[in-house]
Amino acid sequence: MNNNIEGKVIVITGASSGLGEATARHLSEQGAIVALAARRTERIQSLADEITKNGGKALVVTTDVTERDQVKELVDKTVEGFGRIDVMINNAGLMPQSLLERLKVDEWDQMIDVNIKGVLYGIAAALPYMKEQKSGHFINVSSVAGHTVHPGGAVYSATKRAVRTLSEGLRQEVKPYNLRTTIISPGAVDTELPDSISDKEVSENIHNFYEEHALPADSFARAVAYAISQPEDMDVNEILYRPTSQKL
Ligand SMILES: NC(=O)c1ccc[n+]([C@@H]2O[C@H](COP(=O)([O-])OP(=O)(O)OC[C@H]3O[C@@H](n4cnc5c(N)ncnc54)[C@H](OP(=O)(O)O)[C@@H]3O)[C@@H](O)[C@H]2O)c1
Repeated sequence: MNNNIEGKVIVITGASSGLGEATARHLSEQGAIVALAARRTERIQSLADEITKNGGKALVVTTDVTERDQVKELVDKTVEGFGRIDVMINNAGLMPQSLLERLKVDEWDQMIDVNIKGVLYGIAAALPYMKEQKSGHFINVSSVAGHTVHPGGAVYSATKRAVRTLSEGLRQEVKPYNLRTTIISPGAVDTELPDSISDKEVSENIHNFYEEHALPADSFARAVAYAISQPEDMDVNEILYRPTSQKL
């Protein structure tokens, strides 16, 4: 039986580690063709080599999602190579949390550039193709933090809430083109994400929390596969999940 994943052309930003890497592997095992994007070329190249060795198909496009032209080139190359784009997974992100009074303004800028503008550039690059195809699926990565806020997490939560708002707006606008949109909001998942925190105290707290509670990255990959694999007339708009032991 067709799993509605096999043969689909799926672009994944932030594919060099964590959730993106696990998702590329999982979707490829289900028969998807994956386009892998991140800044660390050697990481996505070695993932592509592994996927190819296992009989899958993968394209590597070094991409900084804060550069609109690079995100456009990622999607253009994918369509040139495989004839279409079925799913755009806007996953690249970072989480340098700290109290606002620390004034880590460069990190605020970075989170806005990657977590919000990176997602918008992904939408800008893929939407024209999907409109033309009259089919396609956006999966935008938010967070439990996009549903709540804690001291130290104001800017990160704001960016992740923005992803939810953008995705819901997109969902309403793309009805005429038969497109699907999914927001996935994970809780703590074991990835390199906490390494982006430069504030020593916050970093220690988050690392301890992740050590105790975090789920493996394939939890996210399974959520993505669930959303994609539903029949085309079913649009899974939002998935929110966390470790059973995670309170907030
Ligand atoms: N892990 C969690 O607990 C958790 C929970 C909720 C939401 N999330 C969200 O999940 C997404 C993936 O994070 P992760 O947990 O998998 O963390 P991760 O292991 O640190 O992965 C982050 C990915 O984003 C990429 N990235 C960062 N800046 C980029 C840029 N400017 N251009 C292109 N790619 C960039 C990184 O690749 P390069 O450095 O190679 O460019 C890397 O592949 C993020 O949006 C994060 O906010 C994670």
